[in-house]
Amino acid sequence: MISVKNGVFHLQTARTSYIFDTTPSGKLRHIYYGKRLDDADISTLAVKNTIALGSQVCTQPMECLDDILLEYSEVGRGDYRHTPLECTMPDGSFVTDFVYEYFTVTEEAFSAAGLPMARGDAETLSVRLKDKLFHVELVLHYTVFDSCDVIARCCELVNSEGKPVTIRKLMSFQLDCPDADFVLGTLDGGWAKETHIHERPVTYGIHVTDSTTGGSSNRHNPGFYLRRPGADELQGEVMGFNLIYSGNHYSAVEKANHDFLRVMQGVNPHCFAWEVASGESFVTPQSVMTFSDGGINGMAANFHDFVDNHIVPQPWQGKERPVVVNNWEATMFDFNKSKILSIARRAKELGVELFVLDDGWFGKRNDDTAGLGDWVVNEKKLPGGITALASQINKMGMQFGLWFEPECVNPDSNLYRAHPDWAIHVPGRTPCLGRNQLVLDLTRPEVRDYIVDAVDKVLCSASIQYVKWDYNRHISDMPAGGEFFHRYMLGLYEVLDRLFRQKHPDVLLEGCSSGGNRFDLGMLCYAPQIWTSDDTDAYERLDIQRGVYCFYPPSTVSNHVSMTPNQQTLRSVALSSRFNVAAFGVLGYELDFNELSADERKQIKNQIAFYKQHRRLFQYGRLRRYFPKQDRESWQITLNGVTAAAIYNIHYHASPARDSLKILAAQPEKRYRMASVPQQLKISRFGGLIKHVAPVSLKADGLVLRTVDKHYSMRDGQEEYVCTGENLKAGVQLAMQYSGTGYDPKLRILGDWGRTLSLITEE
Ligand code: DGJ
Repeated sequence: MISVKNGVFHLQTARTSYIFDTTPSGKLRHIYYGKRLDDADISTLAVKNTIALGSQVCTQPMECLDDILLEYSEVGRGDYRHTPLECTMPDGSFVTDFVYEYFTVTEEAFSAAGLPMARGDAETLSVRLKDKLFHVELVLHYTVFDSCDVIARCCELVNSEGKPVTIRKLMSFQLDCPDADFVLGTLDGGWAKETHIHERPVTYGIHVTDSTTGGSSNRHNPGFYLRRPGADELQGEVMGFNLIYSGNHYSAVEKANHDFLRVMQGVNPHCFAWEVASGESFVTPQSVMTFSDGGINGMAANFHDFVDNHIVPQPWQGKERPVVVNNWEATMFDFNKSKILSIARRAKELGVELFVLDDGWFGKRNDDTAGLGDWVVNEKKLPGGITALASQINKMGMQFGLWFEPECVNPDSNLYRAHPDWAIHVPGRTPCLGRNQLVLDLTRPEVRDYIVDAVDKVLCSASIQYVKWDYNRHISDMPAGGEFFHRYMLGLYEVLDRLFRQKHPDVLLEGCSSGGNRFDLGMLCYAPQIWTSDDTDAYERLDIQRGVYCFYPPSTVSNHVSMTPNQQTLRSVALSSRFNVAAFGVLGYELDFNELSADERKQIKNQIAFYKQHRRLFQYGRLRRYFPKQDRESWQITLNGVTAAAIYNIHYHASPARDSLKILAAQPEKRYRMASVPQQLKISRFGGLIKHVAPVSLKADGLVLRTVDKHYSMRDGQEEYVCTGENLKAGVQLAMQYSGTGYDPKLRILGDWGRTLSLITEE
């Protein structure tokens, strides 16, 4: 709800309040952001400035902007904190003086042509400020999403002066707070190690989290949070922020004079200069912010509801996603039609619903040095083309999906030979290659048309239900001008809009960029799910998925069970554990089903059947995480009274301490059954010990054991309790872990990186 009374703007969501007013000179003064207040008393809440301080610069007596919490600051009027706005005004000066003019409230979400923005039921407050010297206005837009406690903010610079204004920096929002007693949490990494959470206390100076790669990047995700030092996963005050944008982003957190906190986020000013001609305006991407006093899980819950209801494309909103098999890790470029069909057939037998043909099906694409850009099927590999293959897969009773990387081109391709100038380059310089490829210049309309036509042609030629849209390098060698990076993004959004909103809204689009190199809210406005990482190692995935879940719901997080030893880490993790991690989101498999043993096939069949039975829970349930103790982590997902709770053993230590697990969503007065989901243990896990129990002498790595392993495995850790929610909340003492002195089916034999899963249902 938005209310404006006596010059006080009060934005209320179900559980939060956001309040500001105006100063005597017409600046917007920030007053409060936090837990919902029903009766906000400004004289109590506002920061007091009673007498003047030394070295101050003031706009008028007792109005020194450096000492005031502001809604949006600027340059040259006495606020010396980090500025959200820097532009060259018509007189060539950087000084602006925007003051309050008027506001409007509309009963809808704010939208701007060409930019992805949050949609659905919402109210928008737009506050218009006008520069005192020039006919240039700054409009701050606040869209309030009530039930998920999210406020989306962006701003607009409108030039009516008759001369151009050049924007060098225009953040989507600024938030000032009266103290900086927070811990900053960011998601950082690189290829195959995306979105690892890092925390540090906010200290004096400015901490910048950004991307300069042209995409939102695997270096720093645009999502970040500020938690009170005492807050953790389960409780305490946390503010979260994210940006609906897939390009270069910038977030700054400053602890300034008086220990004031300033936070801002927007398009990265790096290499940015945007000319706003007279009569034109510039709208920033939208930032979103939320507050929760329910810890990091509370903040994440708000963002999950927000993304599921206001970001993912409408046709996919709340829709269950299929279990896929992808051939990439199984075959890479080395496949032919019969290999593909045999993987698909085996996968179908085990319950897989959609087959995805990854890289290598087109042009002269036998490795990553050639063919990218030539979106014509390689009939030598796939006689009959995509049309015949898709129809054969459909006839097996499976949907068909196809990989594309339309934004890039190999120099060794027909496309590049025909249009070398379409690749991003600086005339006179040799552009850098990344994975032997260049990026196409999506700022050019003819390039966008080519991509739309080429992809559309393939999609119209066959029965294709899913597209994986990959993008495997960063941008380099940008042409002249400060508008390139942002124009590239606008070009990409136009292409995605034409292809997947206008022409093929029924195709399920999965975003991908060398794994999770572009996992952001901008892409999610077109692609309802994103490939999280090229790292499919279940242990590494804990770090990656834990970070992603802070800002993105499980329905958007695409996870695959792959072969072991893992291709990225050479680590071996039990099949059950790989599933117990991948199941928390959109499940897929990425392995050669022909190479599975009979026992593995049986296990996978059971996994898929279990996942399908509880698919809604794993994709749309309320996800909560906590750390029961050091080296243990629990993920729990709850929907309609059913919870799937996993506990992860990170490292095994001899004679381990006992484990207890609290079921966070249990309701004290209800009765529940908690039963572990059956999982199997390979006999070879016991190594040389086997000779002590077998009646005949057996070698640990001998033929007999290897053969037995293929057909038989043992039950691992079966336990079941029927009790009240009160007991589940207090903590269930779990069965002992293996301790070196014998086997019992009730023991949990987890070892390093082992995970068990339990299902908790109401009685
Ligand atoms: C990078 C992706 O992340 C992989 O899953 C795979 O699609 C390869 N590209 C194919 O080139």
